[in-house]
Amino acid sequence: MLNHKVRAEPDREAGNGRESARVGSESPILEADRVSLRFGGVRALTEVSFAVRRGEIFSIIGPNGAGKTSMVNCVSGRYRPTEGRIRFEGRDVTRLRPNRRAGLGIGRTFQNLALFGHMTVLDNIMVGRHHLLRSGFARGMLYWLGGAQREEIAHRREVEEIIDFLEIEHVRKAVAGQLSYGLRKRVELARAVALRPKLILLDEPMAGMNLEEKEDMARYIVDLNEEWGMTVLMIEHDMGVVMDISHRVMVLDFGRKIAEGSPDSVLADEHVKRAYLGEADAAVPAPEEAVA
Ligand SMILES: Nc1ncnc2c1ncn2[C@@H]1O[C@H](COP(=O)(O)OP(=O)(O)OP(=O)(O)O)[C@@H](O)[C@H]1O
Ligand SMILES: [Mg+2]
Repeated sequence: MLNHKVRAEPDREAGNGRESARVGSESPILEADRVSLRFGGVRALTEVSFAVRRGEIFSIIGPNGAGKTSMVNCVSGRYRPTEGRIRFEGRDVTRLRPNRRAGLGIGRTFQNLALFGHMTVLDNIMVGRHHLLRSGFARGMLYWLGGAQREEIAHRREVEEIIDFLEIEHVRKAVAGQLSYGLRKRVELARAVALRPKLILLDEPMAGMNLEEKEDMARYIVDLNEEWGMTVLMIEHDMGVVMDISHRVMVLDFGRKIAEGSPDSVLADEHVKRAYLGEADAAVPAPEEAVA
């Protein structure tokens, strides 16, 4: 559980107060429609449907092996569902490759860090920007006309803004692989943010962090959501964080959706409590604790 609430608004009338935040009423930014995924005999996902509204922080929780990462991989394009469809901004992206989805505005971080360990922090973030730069030929022509230089300057300015925001200025020249785990997670977030995604997929952004690092990370995620306008789809095991910053939560168990709704309603759900039995008892805090 976090020591401090990371949200700015003190409003508590509806559970964690997030329900009253600015969430678009228009069609969902992301829809999963009866998504199933099998690996040979393993059913990683069975007919999972959900929708993420534009502007919200939507969390997926569930015991180990429940299918959370598989679901996010179906959204990013790393896995293709065996059945079902994924729609992003109304467009069917089920068959699109990951880089095409990234181009449409779906960014991500990984459960296990995927930084270029030998490269500097700055270069790692630049990689995230890469697809936003124009093609080689167009760049060549534009360079002639002075446009590429302008583009490069704007590009660097944006990267600096992200470095500033995530407070990694002091390590910008450091080799990524030599940083502490918490810092590496932050650099990975910076790289995902550099793509300026409309929807950002975060797979256990706080895993392995100490309390202070978790609080920082939670604050960055809320700021990305509230100030940068990013919709967030997050997998996280830390219930304190999930309950504190999510607008809505979906619970997976054995590849099936067993609950969805506000953090409070999900915590109070008997089915959810049962799914967590056998997990560490502290994994699901009592409802009164969660909203304290
Ligand atoms: N590439 C794969 N090949 C075979 N089986 C897989 C693959 N990826 C996932 N699985 C299986 O699918 C199921 C769901 O795994 P997944 O990684 O999605 O769970 P998870 O909810 O993210 O778990 P965790 O909390 O441990 O990260 C598991 O039984 C897992 O072994
Ligand atoms: Mg996982």
